Amino acid sequence: MDEPIGIFDSGIGGVTVLKEIVKILPNENYFYYSDSTNNPYGDKKDCEIIDICDKIVNKLIDEKCKAIVIACNTASAKASRYLREKYKNIPIIAIEPAYKMVYDNSYEKTTLVMATKGTIESEKFNLLFKKYNNHKTYLLPCIGLADIIESGDTNKIKNYLNKNLGIYKNRIENVVLGCTHYPLIKKEIMQSLGNEIQFFDGATSLARHLKNILEEKEMLNKKKNKNQNIIFIDTSTKKDIRVLKEKRFYEYLKKDL
Ligand code: DGL
Repeated sequence: MDEPIGIFDSGIGGVTVLKEIVKILPNENYFYYSDSTNNPYGDKKDCEIIDICDKIVNKLIDEKCKAIVIACNTASAKASRYLREKYKNIPIIAIEPAYKMVYDNSYEKTTLVMATKGTIESEKFNLLFKKYNNHKTYLLPCIGLADIIESGDTNKIKNYLNKNLGIYKNRIENVVLGCTHYPLIKKEIMQSLGNEIQFFDGATSLARHLKNILEEKEMLNKKKNKNQNIIFIDTSTKKDIRVLKEKRFYEYLKKDL
């Protein structure tokens, strides 16, 4: 089946998920939908996020996508249940903060969960947190951080992190990157925290899960795909986001693909 896999986020953050998916599923085609018109999702009401995501899923179905990946933790936390109930005929795979990975691999260590306010306050995250709580965890709602990353202003990113991570300096061993924009600034996070950090994000396990689901449903593109097609659309300009976010975007995506 060579129809694309649809992936969306409120901007470029979901590219960090797309990258892991392409590594595991190199023969698939992709349609990446960067909804920067509605960025940030993190401070919006649940009903607004559900409405936005509903329209995006419709659009991706119109584009003939065979499966949909919600590459935004906030949208997953608020809208995945609604979307799965409404669109029963298409697999919908949703990212979530990799807090269980800490439980499985690094339970003893002091952990900081960084995510949007919407994700941290969501019922979905709170269930996960209660289940896997290592009792050495701080939850940090990073209001406004995804917007700054979206703007690409490195000074603003550094100032934000120094101001908001200062109290955790040299006290944290694990960081859960609970927003798909944050893997783009790992280096800056580590600098602000002042020591070696083990990072956890949900992209690789999502990619494996997506592969399993497509395999089970016999929906994988089995042929070698020499002309792999990855379409990137940005909603605010209707342009290809590779043009918009040019250097940063390419550097990130190229690194080890
Ligand atoms: N990348 C989204 C997430 O994973 C971002 C947030 C936003 O738009 O606030 O939560």
